[in-house]
Amino acid sequence: MYEVTPDLIWWNGDIVPWGEATVHVTSEVAMRGTNVFEGLRAYWQAGHEHHAVVHLDRHLARLRQSARLLRFPDADAAEHIDRMRDGVLDLIATLGHQGDLYLRPTLYIDEGRYGWRPGEVRLGSYIVGHPTGPRSTGPMACIVSSWRRTPDQAISPLIKVGAAYQAFRLPRIEAALAGADEAILLNTHDTVAETGGAAVFLVRDGIAVTPPLADGVLDGITRRTVIDLLRSRLGVPVVERSIPRTELYTAEEAFVCGTLDEVRLVGTIDGLPVGSGQQPVAQAVRELYLSICSGKDEPVDVDMLTAVRSSPLSGDR
Ligand SMILES: Cc1ncc(COP(=O)(O)O)c(C=O)c1O
Repeated sequence: MYEVTPDLIWWNGDIVPWGEATVHVTSEVAMRGTNVFEGLRAYWQAGHEHHAVVHLDRHLARLRQSARLLRFPDADAAEHIDRMRDGVLDLIATLGHQGDLYLRPTLYIDEGRYGWRPGEVRLGSYIVGHPTGPRSTGPMACIVSSWRRTPDQAISPLIKVGAAYQAFRLPRIEAALAGADEAILLNTHDTVAETGGAAVFLVRDGIAVTPPLADGVLDGITRRTVIDLLRSRLGVPVVERSIPRTELYTAEEAFVCGTLDEVRLVGTIDGLPVGSGQQPVAQAVRELYLSICSGKDEPVDVDMLTAVRSSPLSGDR
């Protein structure tokens, strides 16, 4: 995904050369991973000659929530995040890349040891935009990790903070060592939670099932969109309920969804093939989601896509 280092990055309100956006090794963010972040996708809609950013405002609202839950100074955080909205659009326009982009708006604590009082803390923010690599089309091989998703009592899954993502390092290494693409984590009650970057859905008897937020999952923006698409466009009922591990092996279909993964089918779990190999619901929701993002189908809600021209001269945003 990140083979290409962009020339430019948005940093504290300005678009600057990549190498200028630095922090000290002893900064709070470098020492303790104190950064809240979002992953956004901007799809290049070739027919319309513009990018469409998916759920920009929902992502920025969740960024604000992560900052609030970690007690970042509120007014300063809000100011940074307000500027980041324009920052996302400006960066896309300035990069001028006629292809899909993955963007990461990040708010971090530069100075201030475990700080939370305004005046003790200096915040910084950046947005990086990378061209995305080619989309993986085949179904994924997953394992169920022996590690657990962090519970709400530790670092809440609702907070997207860099430090919390260390909890996915060992599961991902475990998956790689097992020759799999991804690890599905259970929660501390031993029911299914999510992967390190996506919500998990199963299909049983024509009903789509996914764990509720209380089972240790991020309030995923793609998860919500997929639930809407299944119900309102595909007529597939969706139930949010706890999923015991063994149900992973008996499902007719399985897929994951998230900004980075989009909608991806799961072919095997712990080496067992999922269902009969036919995954009509997963396939249909994947095609519909990608078709909406690429501008070929109507979005589920009016605020789903924000258009931005790739050239700053076009003035069309
Ligand atoms: C732990 C985790 N779960 C799920 C997701 C998917 O969430 P979204 O659809 O909002 O990208 C992400 C990605 O941000 C994530 O980091």
